[in-house]
Amino acid sequence: MKEIGIYVHIPFCKQKCLYCDFCSFSQKESLQKEYVDAVIKEIENCNINKSDCAIRTVYFGGGTPSYIEAPYIEKILESVRAKFDINPDAEITIEVNPGTASFEKLNTYYQIGINRLSIGLQSTNDQLLSVIGRIHTYDEFKGTYDMARKIGFSNINVDLMIGLPTQSIDDVEDSLNKIIKLNPEHVSVYSLIVEENTKMKELIDSGKLVLPDENLERQMYWTVKNTLQKNGYNHYEISNFAKNGYESKHNSDCWNQHEYIGFGLSAHSYYNSIRYSNICDLDEYIENIKIRQIEQNITVHEVQDAKSKMDEYVILKLRMMEGLNLDNFFKLFNVDFRETYKNKIEKLIKSNLIALDCNNIKLTDKGIDFANIVWEEFV
Ligand SMILES: C[S@@+](CC[C@H](N)C(=O)[O-])C[C@H]1O[C@@H](n2cnc3c(N)ncnc32)[C@H](O)[C@@H]1O
Ligand code: SF4
Repeated sequence: MKEIGIYVHIPFCKQKCLYCDFCSFSQKESLQKEYVDAVIKEIENCNINKSDCAIRTVYFGGGTPSYIEAPYIEKILESVRAKFDINPDAEITIEVNPGTASFEKLNTYYQIGINRLSIGLQSTNDQLLSVIGRIHTYDEFKGTYDMARKIGFSNINVDLMIGLPTQSIDDVEDSLNKIIKLNPEHVSVYSLIVEENTKMKELIDSGKLVLPDENLERQMYWTVKNTLQKNGYNHYEISNFAKNGYESKHNSDCWNQHEYIGFGLSAHSYYNSIRYSNICDLDEYIENIKIRQIEQNITVHEVQDAKSKMDEYVILKLRMMEGLNLDNFFKLFNVDFRETYKNKIEKLIKSNLIALDCNNIKLTDKGIDFANIVWEEFV
């Protein structure tokens, strides 16, 4: 039987961070109960069942899943368990914002079988946290982290960001040193993307906030990479670092083109070679489920044929540091990678953006800095 992942989106945040364009809302607390009921109905009515697949990972993402009351998360997880068979060793993750987590909430997560926390910190510099609109300080993060360890969580990810306005190399080094001392199993480090229609974009365009220049941002990235690797973290994906055996199964499965189904607002799914997602209109999503027009929430983005599946596979594999294995590619698609992409590969190798290393095609150091250029070749 095939094994798939499940993603559940919780679109509520206490306050919107300046840089964030995820499908999430503040001041919509009054809709939380109705939303959770709608998500449960969506799960119950899903036409994929336990006879079709087993569940390898469950991921509560957001928004801020830790913002809503823990019994809501419990109810959703119960409905997933009723609908599907979750593998006994499944990875079950919840994203946590330190400004919203209490001992009771974390303890409930632990009791109901959630075994991985992903905590959004971004930086250990309180001044910087306030510049980007975070609702917590470093001390509050530390309190959340210590509580989680005390409760028994043994698989914790910490999210950091680089390339932030006013951020310096010293800030990045300080964040890394403090985090390394705490010894989380996994660290994700994202370069800021200035998204359209965010407060951050407005402030940058009006000159009220200034971004570090590209060289400095790249210097931050290499500081992160070298420091984490030196301290026992395996750099397995362009933005992700893990102690051995703690690579995120949920994320790795997405990058390995495995199937997953998403529930809730804006949740994406990949099943039977079709990529589709739910809308990001909270009222409409809830209403469509109430009137039993659940399919009205869905937009199909892509029905993949062999070629588009292959192109996507290449892009996903070139996110991973181990790269694309030529034999595996042949086994999957029954064509030779170097023949199929001859011109593109020659061009990228000539520009020193990718290289062949022990039967694997991977990004070079230069390719890591210009990864977008590499991926765009295969779009
Ligand atoms: C859904 S959030 C994590 C959970 C929770 N909402 C929080 O922020 O603490 C996922 C992560 O995406 C990253 N992120 C969000 N917007 C970003 C952007 N515009 N550029 C780069 N990283 C971003 C942040 O590191 C954030 O922790
Ligand atoms: S980064 Fe997290 S907490 Fe901030 S607005 Fe986005 S989803 Fe909400």
